[in-house]
Amino acid sequence: MISTSLTRIARATALAVALGSVGVAGGANAAGNSGNGDMKGQIDVLNWWTSGSESKAMGVLKQMLAQKGIKMNNDAVSGGGGGNARTVLKSRIQSHNMPGMAQIKGPKIQQWCKTGFIGSLDNVAKSDNWSKKLAPRINKNLKCNGKYVAVPFDIHRINWLWINRSLMKKANAPIPQSWDQLVNDLGKLKSAGITPIAGGGDTWQVGTEFDALVASVGDAQFYRKAFVDLDSSALSSKTMVKAFKRLRVIEKYTDSNGSGLSWNHDTGMVVNGKAAMQIMGDWAKGAITNDGATPGKKVACIALPGTQNAYIYNVDTFEAFKVNSKSKQKAQNIFAKTVMEPQFQRQFNKVKGSIPVNEKVSLKGFDQCAHKSSEAYHKAKKNDDLVPSMSQDMAEVGAVKGAIFDVVAKFYNSPNMTAQEAAKTLASRVKQADQMSKL
Ligand code: GAL
Repeated sequence: MISTSLTRIARATALAVALGSVGVAGGANAAGNSGNGDMKGQIDVLNWWTSGSESKAMGVLKQMLAQKGIKMNNDAVSGGGGGNARTVLKSRIQSHNMPGMAQIKGPKIQQWCKTGFIGSLDNVAKSDNWSKKLAPRINKNLKCNGKYVAVPFDIHRINWLWINRSLMKKANAPIPQSWDQLVNDLGKLKSAGITPIAGGGDTWQVGTEFDALVASVGDAQFYRKAFVDLDSSALSSKTMVKAFKRLRVIEKYTDSNGSGLSWNHDTGMVVNGKAAMQIMGDWAKGAITNDGATPGKKVACIALPGTQNAYIYNVDTFEAFKVNSKSKQKAQNIFAKTVMEPQFQRQFNKVKGSIPVNEKVSLKGFDQCAHKSSEAYHKAKKNDDLVPSMSQDMAEVGAVKGAIFDVVAKFYNSPNMTAQEAAKTLASRVKQADQMSKL
C-alpha cells in the first residue's frame, strides 16, 4: 500500500517537473482544459486508424503523451486509406473546429500549407535534429516554405504478399518466386476449394493492389514516370496494359463475397485459413500480430513476385494546424517530440507493422518481416529504387489519385473492359485531373 502511494507521489512529482519544463502558462483553466483531471494540455488528433492494431498503436501515443501531462483526443474516423477522415477534416475546418494535428501525407502537406491554416513544428524539429535522423527525401517533404509543419511516424512498404503457409501446403502450392508461379499457385488453390485471395472490398484496396502490380511490371523509373511525372506515354504504355492484365488475374481469383469488407477483415481471413493470400501494405502485419499470429511464421511475408527490388513507400505523417493558445502549441510540440523519440518509434512501429522512420532507432526485437522490410528499404535507397506510393497519396495530389482510382475501379468491376482500354483511359483521365488541379 505504502509503496503504491509513494509511487503515485513520485509519478505526480515527475509530472509536475515535466510540466514545468514545458512551461504551461496559467494552469488548467488558462489552457481551457478544466475537467481533464491533472492533464495540463490537450490535443485533438484527427486520423483514420480504427482497426484493432491501428487503435492499439495510437494507444501507445496516448499513453506516452499522458505521461507528459498531455491529453490526446483520438479523433479517429473509420475507412482504410483515409478518404472519410479527409472529408471530416474539411468539414471541421469549415465549422471552425480545427484539430491540433491531422494525418496528412505526401504532396498534400504542401497543399494544406497554402490554405494558411497550418501551424509550425520548426523549433522542435530543429532542436531535435530531425534532418540527421530522417532520410533526406522524407525530411524534405515535412517542410513548407523552409519550415517544418509535419512529423513522420513510420515507414510502410506497400508491395507485400501475405500468405497462409498451411493452405499453400494443402494445395501443394509452393511459395511463389515469380508471377507465373503465383498464377500457377492461384489455380491450384482454387481447384483445392480454397479462396486464393482476400481483397476487393473497396476502391482503395483495389488501388493498393494495382499499385504493387505496376511495380511488378515496370522498374522504379517507370513507376515514377507514370505516377510522379504523370507522363501520358507511360500511363498508356504496354507496361501499364500488362499491369491491368495482372489486375484482371487477381480479380478473377479474389473472394467473390469480398465487396464491402475492410482490409483488416481480409487479413483476418488469411490468418484464420479462410483465404490463402492478401496483397496489402504492411499495416496488415500489425493486424496479423493483433490476431495472435507471428508474421513470417504462420503467415509468410514476401515481396509481391516481380517486386523484389522495389520499395513502394508510405510514410504516415501528421501536420500541425494553427492553434489559438500557447498551451495547445506546447501540446503540439510535445506531440511531435514524442513521436520522433526512440521509445515511441519502437513501440508504435511494432504494433503498427511498419519500421521506424527515425533511422537512429534499432530494430532489435522486431519480427522477421520488419527486418526484411528494413533490408529492402536500405537496398532500394542505395539503388535509387525507392518510389512514393500512388495509392497512399505519397506521389500526387488528391484529384489525380482520384482519377487513377476511378479507372482502376471501373476496370475491376467491368469484366468486358480490356486492359488496353483501361490504360488509354488512365492516360486521358490523369491528364485532365492534372490540368484541373493546376487551375
Ligand atoms: C494507409 C495508412 C496506413 C494504414 C492504412 C489502412 O493510408 O498510411 O498507415 O493505416 O491506410 O488504414
